[in-house]
Amino acid sequence: MPDLPLSVLVLHGPNLNLLGQREPGIYGSLTLTEINRLLEQEALKLQAKIFCVQSNHEGVLVDTIHQAWGKHQGIVINPGAYTHTSVAIRDAIAGVNLPSVEVHLSNIYRREDFRHHSYIAPVAIGQISGFGAQSYILGLQALVHHLIAQS
Ligand code: DQA
Repeated sequence: MPDLPLSVLVLHGPNLNLLGQREPGIYGSLTLTEINRLLEQEALKLQAKIFCVQSNHEGVLVDTIHQAWGKHQGIVINPGAYTHTSVAIRDAIAGVNLPSVEVHLSNIYRREDFRHHSYIAPVAIGQISGFGAQSYILGLQALVHHLIAQS
């Protein structure tokens, strides 16, 4: 067992600050604050600490990933639209080499073709897509179990 609590960075990408009002038929009706609260509750059960950050800016997301090194043991990331465009976020995750789980509220493979490719997936330990807010919970569980198994 590692020294508890494990510390996990939860990173939310662009437009996720609009959850609740943003296309609820696709993304559900929970706000980001409500999702973060659910994650806090799950983290408590898992005896982990989480730090939640949302940004609409690619560079801020890259900086936040860099700052995670030495501070957090892993990352749960919903990169939003940057999933499909950002080599910089992919390289940041590869650069810090922290175990990362990619999560999506919607099932990106049931949607438009441009959402079928993820630049992040090859540098993530796994991906969870399509379970709404539950994707984040499953992602956190998977990451913590992975970190415990690795220790
Ligand atoms: C998303 C899926 C992306 O394609 C989209 O651009 C988002 C949200 C999801 O959580 O389902 O912003 O990452």
